[in-house]
This record gives sequence, C-alpha cells and structure tokens, in this order.
Amino acid sequence: MKTGKSLRSAAWFGSADKDGFIHRSWMRGYPEDVFDGRPVIGICNTWSELTPCNAHFRELAERVKRGVWEAGGFPLEFPVMSLGETNIRPTAMLFRNLVSMDVEESIRANPIDGVVLLCGCDKTVPSLIMGAASCDLPTLVVSGGPMLNGKFRNTMIGSGTDVWRFSEDARAGILSLPEFREAEVCMSRSAGHCMSMGTASSMACMVEALGLGLPQNAAIPAPDSRRLTLAHLAGRRIVEMVHEDLRMSRILTRQAFENAIRVNGAIGGSTNVVLHSLAIAGRIEVDLSLHDWDVLGRDVATVVDLMPSGRFLMEDFYYAGGLPAILRLLGENGLLHRDALTVNGKTIWENVQHAANWNSEVIRPVDNPVAAHGGITVLRGNLAPDGAVIKPSAASPHLLRHRGRAVAFDSIEHYRQRIADPELDVDENSILVLKNCGPCGYPGMPEVGNMGLPPGILRRGIRDMVRISDARMSGTAYGTVILHVTPEAAVGGPLALVRDGDWIEVDVEARKLHLDVSDEELAARRSAWKKPEQRMKGGYQGLYVDRVMQADRGADFDFLVGCRGADIPRESH
Ligand code: FES
Ligand code: MG
Repeated sequence: MKTGKSLRSAAWFGSADKDGFIHRSWMRGYPEDVFDGRPVIGICNTWSELTPCNAHFRELAERVKRGVWEAGGFPLEFPVMSLGETNIRPTAMLFRNLVSMDVEESIRANPIDGVVLLCGCDKTVPSLIMGAASCDLPTLVVSGGPMLNGKFRNTMIGSGTDVWRFSEDARAGILSLPEFREAEVCMSRSAGHCMSMGTASSMACMVEALGLGLPQNAAIPAPDSRRLTLAHLAGRRIVEMVHEDLRMSRILTRQAFENAIRVNGAIGGSTNVVLHSLAIAGRIEVDLSLHDWDVLGRDVATVVDLMPSGRFLMEDFYYAGGLPAILRLLGENGLLHRDALTVNGKTIWENVQHAANWNSEVIRPVDNPVAAHGGITVLRGNLAPDGAVIKPSAASPHLLRHRGRAVAFDSIEHYRQRIADPELDVDENSILVLKNCGPCGYPGMPEVGNMGLPPGILRRGIRDMVRISDARMSGTAYGTVILHVTPEAAVGGPLALVRDGDWIEVDVEARKLHLDVSDEELAARRSAWKKPEQRMKGGYQGLYVDRVMQADRGADFDFLVGCRGADIPRESH
C-alpha cells in the first residue's frame, strides 16, 4: 500500500537520476516494485553469539519481516553493536552510549521510514531506545523474551539471583564446588534473557509500560511460539505506524514515563531502570528527574512476587497474566495515566482494562503485597548531595534504618584484597563502602555494588549488611545495597572522603544518607584528596570519561541529550 505523502525513503529510492540508480541498483535481488514508495522498515538487530541472551534474534527478525511484507512494507535488517551483559568487560554500561550513537546515526543516515528495535539483554534495550529517540521516527520495540525458569534439583532457580546466593553459600562452605558447577547448566537452559526480575525483564516491562511494545511484550518466554507471533504482528503494525506517522515523541510523553516508574515499583524492578529512564527521557526531551522516581514510586506496592524481591520467575509471571494484569491493577488504583498512547494506536487502558490475573501468588493482591512501599527510594544527605538509590523490596527490613561504622575500599581491587583478610576490623553492623566505581571511576559504572560479605560473617549465617557505593548492581541482585551515590568518588564526591571507622547513618524512610563527620574534618580530607589516575587515556574510554554525566542525569553523554530528528542528510555522491 502506498501512502499519499512521500516518505523519507523516497529521497533515496524515489528518484530517476543517477543517485536513485545507485541507491536501488546496489540493493540487489528485490523486485522493482519494492521501490515504489512503500514504507521502508529498518529492523535494528542486536543478534550476536557473544550476547547469548539475544542469540535467537535471527528468527525473530525473520518473523518481523513476514509481518512487514504482509502489510505492504519493505523490511531491511541492520546490525548494531551488541552488548552482552555476561561477557563484556569492563562493563556493558560503558558502551551503552556508544551503541546509542550507532543506532541514532544508522537510522538517520539510511533510507528508513520506521524502525523495529530487537532488544533483550540489559543494555541492548536502553541503548537502542535512546538512539531511536534522538531520531523520533515511528518505532516499535520487540523484546526477545525471558528464558524458561531455571531448575536445579527440583527447585526453581533464577538468573543472577541464585548465582549470588550459591556463591555466598560456596564461600560459607555449605555448597560444594561440583554442586556449584552443576547449577550452571540448570540456570540457563533455553533461549532468552535473565528470567528473574533483573534489568532485562524490568526493561522489557518498561517497553510495555511506556507504550513502545505490543501488549504482552514483556513476559512471553523466548522459546514460546507466541513470541514469534508477537514479532510477526509487530512487523505488520510498524507499517501502519509509518502511515499514521505515529512517532516516538507521541508515545514517550511525561505521562508514559510516570506510568513506567509506577510499573517499576509494582514489579519490584531493577535500580538500573532509573538510569536508563533518565537517559531516554533526556533524548526525547521529557523533563524527568531522580526526584520524580522517589515521589512517584513511593506509594506503589510491589505486587509481583518475582526474584530477586520475591519467589517466582518471568515464566510464571506470563502464565499469571503478565504486565497487562499489572497495568490494569495500577489503573484501578489511580496509579496509571490511562490515556497514554501506545504503539498499537490504542491507549494503554484500552489495551489492559480486561486483563486477567490467573495466579494471585505470582501477582499478589494490593492488600497483601511483597512490599507495601515498593519502588526505588532516593536517599540524600552529605554523603550523596545529588542522590543515591536503594530498592527496599530487595533489602533486609531491619537494616533500612541503621547506624554503622564504615569499612572503606578505594577500588574493587582494594575490596578483593581486603575482604577475606581475617584481620579486617568488620562485623555485621559495619557498613561496606566502595569508592571509584561510578561512571568516570571504573569507568562505566559497573555492577559491583552488591559486594560479597566477609567470609567470617557468612560462616556465621549472616547474609546481608549495608553496602554503599557509586556503582550499580545487577537487577537480579538483592540486599541492603545503596547505589549510584552522586557525585561519584572519582570526581571528588563526598564518598571519596569516607575512611575506616567513620559513622554512617542510613534512614530509608526519612530518605537520609549521612556521614557523621564534621564539616571541618571533611574539608581537611578534601584538601588532601587526589583524583585517581584515569586507567585508559584517549580512545572511546577517554571520550567517555570526558563527557559522561553523573548518575542523576542517567549517565548519558552531555552532547547526546536531545532529539535531533531524522531530517534527510545530503546526498552521498
Ligand atoms: Fe543478558 Fe541478564 S545477562 S539479560
Ligand atoms: Mg544485569
């Protein structure tokens, strides 16, 4: 079906001169009529064997293409750098902004009228959405879906979550090495991304909550045939979206972000979503701050009983009703902007108003939640003037108000060196403080904030202590872990000044994070402070450290904030 108005791609494929010849001739192997002005759909694929969570994406892309062809579009798949959480060092987060540039420039530079983003593993989601948002074409996201539940000796085990648990048990001497190894193949046993409510699952829920994906995008397991159908339907729908000129900016409104923040509270979602949402909002020019996260998330009860906050996994969540059931629940409790528009052209409420909850263990009733005050809490104080975050639903209630003495580590290497030292002056009331692991510090803000406990304490059966850092933690992790302390230590934030033995006060209810050291003493320490040596100068890492913003701005590059649109660039020949 041709549209009345000429599309962006016509500037490449529509001309009769030498340029049109060049653009068409080199495409090879397509019938002539695909260049008749029909919507050209770019399928942005993060397939890679080095990103095992996205390794099934070739088939997904083929299904999207079927839908695009059926609807009268012309699908063209293109690769971008893929970020696999488990293999990329020093951390996939270092490259999120790089990939977003890859995506943005690939879309703008090519004859593309609409985009389908194929994402799965953690950073593949925000990087693609950020890049596409800076272009603002009609865009639809298809998530790759979670793995099937892990099964180990007839018990359910969750991605990541049980790695931390097994690792602590092994260090405490209650799990043998052969058992630890056996668990590996039991955890990851099908295609898909982490199936606990880690960052990938949380971001897949965000895709659906923001209205960027079709209903049930978040939870259909990767190997379930309905995932293929969803991809097929997405292909059909993106062609219509181009005809309707339904751009990202009409979907990604302030209301959509508010819905997403509340959903993250209800699902017990990852702390990483905070960073990614701020970065995405910056690209589409929606005013969103860390403060919004605290205010909007504060009263949302966590009702989805999934690891790491709860008991079940994404497969169970899908069978229980998936995200539509949560959106309906929020809508019925006055916590959803019902008019927010979604990619299928309907409002979010039209999509979910009849959604069912088939399992009240997995999706619990509001009056019997996993945590009454879910969401993400933003702490402030002289230790984190620009904020820090904690996920109370994954923390120990008795530590949410705590005063303890710091055991401070200058780097992750320093931590590794000292943590098993029997001479280390530490007990379960101590607070482990890790510095220089923020955006500039590591660089890339790695997921090391949930430092393992000292072995002597683990052997006594203790499994949680307060931990504070400028790092992130895996969305699959748990514990009383305060993260994203801003400004970070490497740029001279107060975290850099903490010393062993300092008293620190945490009061999550009061939103407080206080270093109990006098201003005079802190000033003296500041004048003695030396900026840590940058590990790699020049290259991408040099650019990263020069231009990355702090966590309260989503750790995007300062020069990437904003929507630059998709005006047609100058001709190439
Ligand atoms: Fe890919 Fe967790 S490692 S989603
Ligand atoms: Mg992760």
